[in-house]
Amino acid sequence: MSIPRLGVNIDHVATLRQARGETYPSVVEAAHVCFKQEADQLTIHLREDRRHIQDTDVDSLRLVCDRYGKPMNLEMGIAPEMIDIAIAARPEWICLVPEKREERTTEGGLNLADDTHFNKVKTTMKKLRAGLPQLKISLFVEANETVLKRCIELKADAVEIHTGDFAMAFNRGESVDGFMKEFEVGKKICDDYGVAYHAGHGLTDVNIIPLLESKLFAEYNIGHWIISQAVFEGLNSVVDRFKKLFEKYPLG
Ligand code: PXP
Repeated sequence: MSIPRLGVNIDHVATLRQARGETYPSVVEAAHVCFKQEADQLTIHLREDRRHIQDTDVDSLRLVCDRYGKPMNLEMGIAPEMIDIAIAARPEWICLVPEKREERTTEGGLNLADDTHFNKVKTTMKKLRAGLPQLKISLFVEANETVLKRCIELKADAVEIHTGDFAMAFNRGESVDGFMKEFEVGKKICDDYGVAYHAGHGLTDVNIIPLLESKLFAEYNIGHWIISQAVFEGLNSVVDRFKKLFEKYPLG
C-alpha cells in the first residue's frame, strides 16, 4: 500500500527573506526541517523575476536534497535562460509551468492546446532531456482532455493538475463536484498511458481531504498554506501533520 507523496514548496520562506533583503529566514534550514519530518521532496520555483528563490538557493538546496537522498522538484517557466540553470541544478524532477511576470502566483496550467506554446514546451523538454538524461518531467496543466492528450504526445513522465480553482471553490463553500469529475476523467486518460498523476496549487489541510479521499493523486506539492500555517504552528509540526494525514489515505 503506498501513501501519497508530499512535496513541500518552500518558495515563501524566500519571499519573507526577500521582503527585507535579509539573510533570514533560511531556506536551507527550512529544507532540513521538511526532510527531518519526512517530506518526500523539495519543490522550488525559480521564477524569471527572482521574486523569491534565488540562483544561489538552488545550489544550496541541491546539497540538502543530496544529503537526505530526496528529490528536488524544480518548477520553471519555458524561458530559454532557465534551461542551463536547470541543467546545472541536476533536479530529479522539473515541472514546467506557465509564467507571467505580472501574476501573483501561477494562475493556471500550460496552454498546450495552442500549437505555438505546445512547440515551445516540446523544444524545452528536448533540451532538458539532452542535458539531463535521467530527468523526469512533469507538466502543470488543467484536467482537460485535449491538454492531457497533448501531454501524452510530449511523453511527459507526469502531469501536475492545477488545483487552484478547485481550492478556491472549496474555500468559498461551493460545490466541487464538477472539478472532481474532471480530475477522475483526467486520471483515466493518464493511467492508460502510464503518466503519473500529481496535484498542486492552493491546497490546505482541509480542502485536500476530498482529493485524498478520491485516491486519484500520487503526489501533492503544497507551499503557501504550509508556510503560512508554520507562523502559528511551526514548520515541523505542519509538515508532520500532512504526513500523518496522508497516511490515513493510502492509495491502495
Ligand atoms: N505546484 C505548482 C506547479 C506551483 O506553481 C505551485 C506554486 O508555486 C505549487 C504547486 C504550490 O502552490 P501553493 O503555494 O498554492 O501551495
